[in-house]
Amino acid sequence: MSDQLIKAAKIGFASQYTYYLKAHFFHWNVEGINFQELHSLFETIYTEVYGTVDEFAEKIRSLGGYAPGSNSRFSMLTQIADETEIMPGIAMVDELLADSENMVKVLKRVYDLAEAEGQHGFSNFLAERMDAFQKHAWMLRATTK
Ligand SMILES: [Fe+2]
Repeated sequence: MSDQLIKAAKIGFASQYTYYLKAHFFHWNVEGINFQELHSLFETIYTEVYGTVDEFAEKIRSLGGYAPGSNSRFSMLTQIADETEIMPGIAMVDELLADSENMVKVLKRVYDLAEAEGQHGFSNFLAERMDAFQKHAWMLRATTK
């Protein structure tokens, strides 16, 4: 297992954790006429994403790396921008849609490295994560139409 793969895996993991937190943040704070719909949509998404956080961390341990678990390390590693503003619901949907598409790209880089190193168990996991973020992107995109 190369250091390059472990580093990329940590970036993917930190990005997923930041994404999870943002989806939960939006769930808590969304307002407006679409409140119930968006509150539920964000819950569906953060629940799915959080459901694989533990497995992702343990995959990093299996590769021989240590799993990051602090806000300072996550902010150093993540490719998903932090959000502190309370925005209108549709702006939350637009931002999480862009983040979902970005997550697919971030995880694809990790996937390619895992495949190149014959880490097929890890690449299978990453393929499922990319599929899940594509589904989140679809639901968010459909909401904006
Ligand atoms: Fe809730």
